[in-house]
Amino acid sequence: GTHVVPTIAELRRLVAERRAAGASVALVPTMGALHDGHLALVRRAREIADMVVVSIFVNPLQFGPGEDLDRYPRTLEADVAALAGLGVDAVFAPSVDEMYPSGGVGGTTVHAGPIGERYEGASRPGHFNGMLTVVAKLFGIVRPDVALFGQKDAQQVFLVSRMVADLDLPLRIETVPTVREPDGLALSSRNRYLGAAQRQAALVLAESLRAAEAAASDGASELLAEGVAAFGDHEGVSLDYFVVVDPGTFLPITEDFRGRALVLVAGIVGSTRLIDNAFVEVG
Ligand code: PAJ
Repeated sequence: GTHVVPTIAELRRLVAERRAAGASVALVPTMGALHDGHLALVRRAREIADMVVVSIFVNPLQFGPGEDLDRYPRTLEADVAALAGLGVDAVFAPSVDEMYPSGGVGGTTVHAGPIGERYEGASRPGHFNGMLTVVAKLFGIVRPDVALFGQKDAQQVFLVSRMVADLDLPLRIETVPTVREPDGLALSSRNRYLGAAQRQAALVLAESLRAAEAAASDGASELLAEGVAAFGDHEGVSLDYFVVVDPGTFLPITEDFRGRALVLVAGIVGSTRLIDNAFVEVG
């Protein structure tokens, strides 16, 4: 059966029991409000590990003042039902107090380094430090062999992989491709904030990535120009950033760059921030 576990001690006990019997362990960290994107990670975890742990925790440390921490969707019952249907062994759903007994104040945090200040980090100061801090805690609590992350949050999975390499953490990170709606919109828990017209307007993110992809063979500047032009000035959507990075460094590519690059886009629809990305072959 699927255990729903609110405490660190109980989760550790469950994992230790399975480990002692020789099980490998996969962790899928989430903030809940689960959709098919999350479930793709869980299905992959089920394929590669004997024990699958999914964490559901809306991490206050990674939300800035004025962000959507209070209105972030919380649907624990439906989430647990979906995870039970996929044969998940344990759902770790701690309270804020369980994770941050001192309120997260005055304690140790993880610093993301310079890439944490770019792109999403420029618009959301401190976001990646808070994200890495909770991910490091989850790694310490579960001690998984493998943790799975979605390509949807490309900068997140880059920074998590950097942390694992830089701090010699003993686990493997596996990335799962972005799951999309039939019309191209990347699934996101925040899509439920969108009204019908906003939902339509949000398609410009995926469209701008497709335009960039189509121009990629003409080189870096054409790719960027076409992508930004496709974003255009659509009613009700504003562009936050549109940038092409080297996937190995996450730094913007230079004009003479050739090879596999990653296009990152972020836009604001009403008061909802949306992000998307796509790999392209430049030159
Ligand atoms: P959350 O937004 O709930 O996402 C949990 C995981 O699901 C992340 O790895 C994210 O990249 C992945 N995901 C979301 N939408 C996806 C999609 N359309 N296709 C594929 N994967 C998708 O990301 C977080 O939570 C938090 O920052 C967390 C890592 C849990 C730390 O608090």
